Amino acid sequence: METILITGGAGFIGSHLTRLFVNKYPNYKIVNLDALTYAGNLNNLRDIENAPNYQFVKGDITDMEFVKNLFATHHFSGVLHCAAESHVDRSIADPLAFVRTNVIGTVSLLQAAKEHWKENMEGKLFYHISTDEVYGSLGDEGFFTEETAYDPRSPYSASKASSDHFVRAYHHTYHLPVKISNCSNNYGPFHFPEKLIPLCIHNIINKKPLPIYGKGENVRDWLFVEDHVRAIDTIYHKGKIGETYNIGGHNEWTNIALVKELCHQMDQKLGREAGESEQLITYVKDRAGHDLRYAIDATKLKEELGWMPSLQFEEGLSKTIDWYLNNSEWLANVTSGDYQKYYTSLYGA
Ligand code: NAD
Ligand code: DAU
Repeated sequence: METILITGGAGFIGSHLTRLFVNKYPNYKIVNLDALTYAGNLNNLRDIENAPNYQFVKGDITDMEFVKNLFATHHFSGVLHCAAESHVDRSIADPLAFVRTNVIGTVSLLQAAKEHWKENMEGKLFYHISTDEVYGSLGDEGFFTEETAYDPRSPYSASKASSDHFVRAYHHTYHLPVKISNCSNNYGPFHFPEKLIPLCIHNIINKKPLPIYGKGENVRDWLFVEDHVRAIDTIYHKGKIGETYNIGGHNEWTNIALVKELCHQMDQKLGREAGESEQLITYVKDRAGHDLRYAIDATKLKEELGWMPSLQFEEGLSKTIDWYLNNSEWLANVTSGDYQKYYTSLYGA
C-alpha cells in the first residue's frame, strides 16, 4: 500500500482533496498533516475520519525535525502540499506569518522528501499546490499561461511565488520529482468566511453589510473546488514530472457582478423580495495593492490531460449557497471566537 502525505488537509481545498483521495483510492493510505490554524477544521472531514485508509496528524510543516520523523515513520511515496497561509488581507497585516508557513514550511517539506528519497527517487512525487496570483495582475485583456513571468504583488503571492521557485530549484538541483499547479479562485462548501463568497453568504443570511473593496471592478476567475481537486488528481497521476499546469474555468466575474448574482440567488432561496439583499452592498476602502484581474488559460491541462471543469458557475454557486444554508452549525462554529476579532479589525463592528 502506498502512503501519501497531504498537508493542510483540514483546510478548504485540502479537505476536498483528502476526501477525494481517501474515497477514490482505497489502496492509498492518506496521512493528513495539519497544524489546525484558524483555517483548519476537522469538522470538514467528519464523513471520512474513520475510513481505514485515513490518518490525521496534528503538526507544523515548519518543524523540520518533526516532518523528517513523519517521513521516517510512514515512508511516503507522494506528497500533496496544500498547507499554507492563504488569505491576502491577512498577508498585508502580517507578512512574516506567510514567509514562515509558505516559504520555510515548503522548504522544510522539500528537504525532508529529498533526504528520505535520496537512495531512490523512482515512483516518488512532490506535488505543490499553488496559485495564479504568482503571475501578478492582468489588464483588461490576456490570460496567464504557464510561460507568464512571475510578478507577485502581495505578501501572500510573493510567498507562494517563492515556494514555487524552491520547488523548481529542488527539481533542477537535486532531481526531486515535482509537479506544480497554479489555480484560479476556488469556491464551494467548507470555504472559510473571510473570503469574498462565503463572507457575503454569511452576511446576506444575517442581513449584514456586504463589503465591496474599491469600486468592485476587480475581476476573478472562479472555479468550483471539486473541479480543482479533480484536476489535481489528474495531474498527480497523469502529468509530467517537472511540469507546471494552470487550472481555471474560463469564468471571469467582476466582484460587484458576482455579489449581485449571489444576492439574486439568495433572495429567491430565502423567500426575500427581489433586490432586498442588494441593499446590503457597501463600498469600503480598497485592498492595498489590489490586483485588478486574474484569468487563467488552462489549455495545456485540457489538451494534454483531458481535464475540463464540470459545472457552470450559476449552478456551482447555487450548490454552494445550499450547502451553507444546510450547514448553519458549521458556519456558526467557524464565525465565533477569533473570527469575530478578525472581522472587527478588518471591517469595524
Ligand atoms: P486554507 O487557508 O483554507 O487552508 C490552509 C490549511 O493549511 C489549514 O487547514 C491550516 O490549518 C493549514 N496550515 C496552515 N499553516 C500550517 C502549518 N504551518 N503547518 C501545517 N498546516 C498548516 O487554504 P485553501 O484556500 O484551502 O488553500 C490551500 C492551498 O491552495 C494553498 O496553498 C493556497 O495557496 C492554494 N490555492 C488556493 C486557492 C483558493 O482560491 N482558495 C486558489 C489557488 C490555490
Ligand atoms: O486566485 C487564487 C487566490 O484566490 C488564492 O490563491 C487565495 O488563497 C484566495 O484567497 C483567493 O484570493 P483573492 O484575494 O482573489 O480572494 P478573496 O476572496 O479574498 O477576494 C476576492 C475578490 O473580492 C478580491 O478582488 C478582493 C474582493 N473582496 C474580498 C473580500 C474578502 C471584497 O471586495 N470584499 C471582501 O470583503
